[in-house]
Amino acid sequence: KIVPVLLSGGTGSRLWPLSRELYPKQFLPLCSDRTMLQDTALRVDARSAGGPDGVAVFSAPLVICNQEHRFLAAEQLRQSRCDPRGIILEPTGRNTAAACALAALAVGADDPDALLLVLPADHEIRDAEAFRHAVGIAARAAAAGRLVTFGINPTRPETGYGYIRRGHAMDEADGAYNVAAFVEKPSLEVAERYLAEGGYAWNSGMFLFPVGRLLAELERHAPAVLAACRAALENGSRDLDFFRLDADAFAKAPAISIDYAVMERTDRAAVVPCEIGWTDVGAWSALWDVGSKDGDGNVVVGDVLLEGARDCYVRSDNHLTAVVGVENAVVVVVDDAVLVADRSQAQDVKRIVDRLKAEG
Ligand code: GDD
Ligand code: MG
Repeated sequence: KIVPVLLSGGTGSRLWPLSRELYPKQFLPLCSDRTMLQDTALRVDARSAGGPDGVAVFSAPLVICNQEHRFLAAEQLRQSRCDPRGIILEPTGRNTAAACALAALAVGADDPDALLLVLPADHEIRDAEAFRHAVGIAARAAAAGRLVTFGINPTRPETGYGYIRRGHAMDEADGAYNVAAFVEKPSLEVAERYLAEGGYAWNSGMFLFPVGRLLAELERHAPAVLAACRAALENGSRDLDFFRLDADAFAKAPAISIDYAVMERTDRAAVVPCEIGWTDVGAWSALWDVGSKDGDGNVVVGDVLLEGARDCYVRSDNHLTAVVGVENAVVVVVDDAVLVADRSQAQDVKRIVDRLKAEG
């Protein structure tokens, strides 16, 4: 039984001014006319019958988000006719090791043999069919007790990703490999060397974990995270779909990602290399990458007029926006703010958000 776990706790600050604290990117329709959370849920819909005999392989998803977003998440899932197994509400984000631990504890209580398909709710996957095929391969590796990653062919020395060095092919699962090394967010020099050497994949940030094995690895490598999450669930409460955590207990969880806490340290990792049209929609430049372009390389959303513009991303929801003779720019216009940035510096939008926060 594969239980999708939708990680929906990010703030998406690099997609300011559209993505806001009260309304972060996973709840926005950025890549299609559905929101990113809805697209993620539909990709693993039980009705998509991804199994070998047309049998559904996915059960209802578990969603993990900030408690401030509970109605947004619940309403968007309802609109997509997705009936979640539950929605775990975090009082504050404690990063992905804690989120994965919560999922393992909550699902493991009822289904100790389940496989958790951990999916960030802010990734774009163009080939959903190929993705589900890769999950099928991963399921065989996970059944052999592995923590399975999905490897993406790297195209640039990106330092914001994890890198996976592929080892020998696994006997138990055709298409899956042992992981020889997992290195989270290497320096630029190291990332460049990996690309030159070859044999490395990017970690997509999606995982397939056997529940019992994940709990055992958390116990071994991140016991404080596991203990805090256990206490937060035990002293919390459940009403309808919502799991409410004990805030004091959860605050004690060290804020560390699953990549640093477990994936770099475990000797049980496997990787399924896959070509699924994957993009981490982290910044406006990624939306330009995945967007459909006009003859001059511009991606345009909304009420926009261009004259002599090239390779720009321009988005305006409510104001007629005109861009003349500009190249490689990002222009985003919302009711109360305007962003103009160079496409190559789209990551630095986060600095503006940090300043806005500091200045209150
Ligand atoms: N519920 C919840 N709570 N979700 C969270 C939290 C949290 O505290 N923190 C992060 N998330 C969600 C984010 O919204 C995102 O969807 C996902 O978990 C991953 O977190 P990021 O913060 O975006 O991680 P990253 O991009 O730095 O790195 C991860 O993804 C890369 C690929 O995009 C790692 O897994 C890398 O190894 C990987 O290459
Ligand atoms: Mg990310």
